[in-house]
Amino acid sequence: MRKLRVLVLMHEDLVPPDDRSARTGPTIVPWRTEHDILSALEELGHEARPVGVHDDLQVLRTAFDEFNPHVTFNVLEEFHGVALYGQAVISFIELMRRAYTGCNPRGLMLAHDKVLTKKILSWHRIRTPRGTTFPYGAPVRCPRNARFPLLVKSAVEDASLGISQASIVHAPDKLLERVRYMHETYETDVLAEEYIEGRELYVGLIGNARAEHFPIWEMTFNDWPEDQPRIATERVKWSAAYQRKRGIRTGPAENLPPEVERDIVRTCTAVYRALSLSGYARIDLRLDAAGKVWVIEANANPDLARDEDFADSAKAGGVPYPMLVQKILNLGLAWRPAWKQLELALES
Ligand SMILES: Nc1ncnc2c1ncn2[C@@H]1O[C@H](COP(=O)(O)OP(=O)(O)O)[C@@H](O)[C@H]1O
Ligand SMILES: [Mg+2]
Repeated sequence: MRKLRVLVLMHEDLVPPDDRSARTGPTIVPWRTEHDILSALEELGHEARPVGVHDDLQVLRTAFDEFNPHVTFNVLEEFHGVALYGQAVISFIELMRRAYTGCNPRGLMLAHDKVLTKKILSWHRIRTPRGTTFPYGAPVRCPRNARFPLLVKSAVEDASLGISQASIVHAPDKLLERVRYMHETYETDVLAEEYIEGRELYVGLIGNARAEHFPIWEMTFNDWPEDQPRIATERVKWSAAYQRKRGIRTGPAENLPPEVERDIVRTCTAVYRALSLSGYARIDLRLDAAGKVWVIEANANPDLARDEDFADSAKAGGVPYPMLVQKILNLGLAWRPAWKQLELALES
């Protein structure tokens, strides 16, 4: 295998300390993904160098000049504190004619916006819950055709931010109250969509023009009050103590009828294409009691930590962590952005 110079692009606050032994300690360190990527690259024999970015692109330009990487491994999720600008940094790298891993700017932009995603999925007749947008700053009114229960969430935040049991609303007054709360708290557009009762599934995909998928993954709620909706709230996702208390586990989805499994894979592949995704992604789904598959969202930049769902499902699919990192590198190097296509056309 060719030894590569790999620049690992991350947030400046998440550059791991030189002594990285705390990663395996009792507390969850915020820089675990960054650590895991750096150590996998080292394990693979590549020369890996972290670059921490906050609001200054010059840092990146200097790293390109000094280190001259073959490829930049992207785990950055924001720029200047704005999540949507993560995509702009990748655009910058592309304009600098440098190779990068993960999704291209167009896919990052489309998948980042849950409302835009739904519009595109509807065009392609891919099933996604019906929804209404409440733009930030505009007066909040209850739509006449609202079909309760609805789930209220930010149109652009991720990581279950602002998702709790109170996100599910059953009546107009509660809807307006929750939308206003979300506006005030997150200062973003808000999406209210029909609540889909059912199983919580995730599918990891990897590829450029053609995506492979990893085994279908499921979050199960094993110690959960019968009358409470089973959703991945902020607490479910981030509190290890709560996960233990409520028996929250993620693992291969069991007992899916083969036709449902085929439908899930077909749906996820169609989403990947419809949203112009590349590199790798994770699609979040719900499966209702009738066996219908509903797309909740696409994550173009899912968490790549060694013990997160994406890497776990890859491993279950026969792709251990360092091999996953190498595959992501290869896809980054193989990706043909417009400038490269132009160059190839001129050469021929
Ligand atoms: N329409 C919906 N019906 C049922 N559950 C939903 C719906 N939308 C979101 N959820 C629940 O909320 C969680 C977080 O929502 P999601 O849209 O994936 O946002 P995030 O970007 O924060 O992951 C989902 O994993 C799911 O459990
Ligand atoms: Mg999600």
